[in-house]
Amino acid sequence: MSALESDIERHYGAEDVSARVLRALTAAGKDLERLTRADLSPFDEFHGGGLASTRDLASFAALAAGLEVLDIGCGIGGPARTLAAEFGCRVTGIDLTHEFVRAATMLTARLGMQANCRFQQGSATDLPCAAATFDIAWSQNMLMNIADKPRFFAEVARVLKPGGRLALETVVAGDGRQIHLPVFWAARLEHNFLVTGAELKSLACDAGLVVDALEDTTQAVIANGRKRQAAIAADSASQLTVAVIVPDDVPLKMANALSNNEEGRTRTVKALFRKPA
Ligand SMILES: C[S@@+](CC[C@H](N)C(=O)[O-])C[C@H]1O[C@@H](n2cnc3c(N)ncnc32)[C@H](O)[C@@H]1O
Repeated sequence: MSALESDIERHYGAEDVSARVLRALTAAGKDLERLTRADLSPFDEFHGGGLASTRDLASFAALAAGLEVLDIGCGIGGPARTLAAEFGCRVTGIDLTHEFVRAATMLTARLGMQANCRFQQGSATDLPCAAATFDIAWSQNMLMNIADKPRFFAEVARVLKPGGRLALETVVAGDGRQIHLPVFWAARLEHNFLVTGAELKSLACDAGLVVDALEDTTQAVIANGRKRQAAIAADSASQLTVAVIVPDDVPLKMANALSNNEEGRTRTVKALFRKPA
C-alpha cells in the first residue's frame, strides 16, 4: 500500500467499524440474529445517491443473474448485497479499508449471503485479481480518491473479460472552484482527485475501453441529499445513519457535499464503458 493509500485508509477506517455497527443496530432495537438488508439500508450504501442510485446504475448497466461483478471500493458491502439479492449477480468486493472489509464480511455472513458476496482488502490500482475474470467492474464514489487514474482504468481493462463492462458512479469536477471541505471522501485537499466527465471519457479510451454512455446525475443526487438531511433532522435521536460508519463531522460533510453540487463546484455522473470483445 502506498503512503497516500495508507493515509486514505486512515481517513475512512474508524476504529472497530463492525462493533460500532452492531452496537447501533442493537440500540435501534434490531434483532442481530434476524438482520435484514432493510435494517442496514440507512448506512450501508455509502454514496450520494443511496440505494436508488445503485438500482439505477444496475439497470443502466443491464446487470443480470449469474454475472461476475467486481465492486472496486466496496465499502461495507451494501451495493454488493443489493446486486446479489436484487439482480442475481455474484460479487467480489475489494476495498482499501480493512475495517470496512471486515464489516462487509461480518454483515454479509449475518444475512446469509456469503455464497454470492465475498470481500477482500486491496487497492483499486493494483487489483488482487486474475486477468479477464469479471463480466462487470463496478465502482461507486471511489474514483475521487484515486490519484493514478490511468492505472485504475488499466487495471479495470485487465480484469474484465472481453466484452465486459465498467459501470461507474462518481463525483467529478465542476466549475473549477475549490470544493468545500470536509466531504465524505476527503477531509483535506491532498485526498481529493477530481477530474471532469470529459477527462473520464478520455482516460477510459486511453486504457482501450469504449465509452457506451456518460450521464449527469447531479440533480438526483442533490434531491437524495436533501431527503437524507431532512430524515436525520426529523429523527435526530436515530442511531442508524451514515454516522455509524463515519464518526466525524457527518452534518458538515453532508452540508458540504450538497453545497458543492448546488453551487456547481462538483457534479456527479454515471457512466458505462466497455472492453471490446
Ligand atoms: C465513499 S466510499 C463508497 C463505498 C461503496 N462504494 C458504497 O458506495 O457504499 C469510498 C470507498 O472507496 C474506498 N477506497 C478509496 N481509495 C481506494 C483505493 N485506492 N482502492 C480501493 N478502495 C479505495 C474507501 O475505503 C471507501 O470504502
